[in-house]
Amino acid sequence: MISARGMYIHIGALIGTIMAGNVFTVIMPSQRALVAAVTEGTTPDPAWGAKAKLRSTHNTYIVLPLLFIMISSHYPMTYNHQHGWLVLVCLFIITAAARWYFVLRHTNRQNILIPIGVVIATLLLIYAMSDKNQAEPVDMSSAALVGKAEVETIITTHCVGCHSSKPTDAIFTVAPAGVMLNDYASMLRWMPAIKARVVDSHNMPLMNKTNMTQQERDTLGLWIAQSNQ
Ligand code: HEC
Repeated sequence: MISARGMYIHIGALIGTIMAGNVFTVIMPSQRALVAAVTEGTTPDPAWGAKAKLRSTHNTYIVLPLLFIMISSHYPMTYNHQHGWLVLVCLFIITAAARWYFVLRHTNRQNILIPIGVVIATLLLIYAMSDKNQAEPVDMSSAALVGKAEVETIITTHCVGCHSSKPTDAIFTVAPAGVMLNDYASMLRWMPAIKARVVDSHNMPLMNKTNMTQQERDTLGLWIAQSNQ
């Protein structure tokens, strides 16, 4: 199985290939045919122009989704969403509409309803993506204090294989994203990121390679909640 972001990257590679294909197999040959016809003084075949225009139109509308995919690593909430493919489909439609507005504007045909629709659609998408089943607020009055040793054990077992000054993981020989969790001070320093990646979302440990349990995630959540009181 490919990873969640892998799916986005595959689609990005596909779009990039289509765009390059459009340029090299249709757009450039038609331009050459056009220039050749003009130099020879004959009338160019109008089919060339029509085909080139169609393919440039395709490229116009798929370039923004491609750009989004290229920077999507900064938006894990999209590809990590349980319906990540559907989020991407929505982004295709929204960015294509945004592009459409600018295409029309070039020919002085502004339509202010399009950007308004784009904004509304984006807000609706954000709302639809927001997790309505957030982790339940922890009842801290009854919970026992999570100790330093407990946190160290969990993180050492599940994270330090990769996130260490000397990783033992077979693939990651350098601490990924520069995150090293060798000692408690670093664990404290990375606390907000740990909350985001381990407690609020489940995208660390990477593909849950180290089989972290929900109970261990809850313990870390409690530890963070108690430290932030
Ligand atoms: C199999 C290796 C592996 C394991 C195990 C692992 N990680 Fe990661 N981690 C990565 C990789 C690769 C990245 C960079 C890619 C990314 O951000 O998704 C990363 C990124 C991160 C980041 C991102 C920092 C930032 O700038 O946003 C944090 C925080 C993190 N990991 C915490 C953890 C914690 C906490 C655990 C244990 C519960 C853990 N990781 C287990 C491989 C791993």
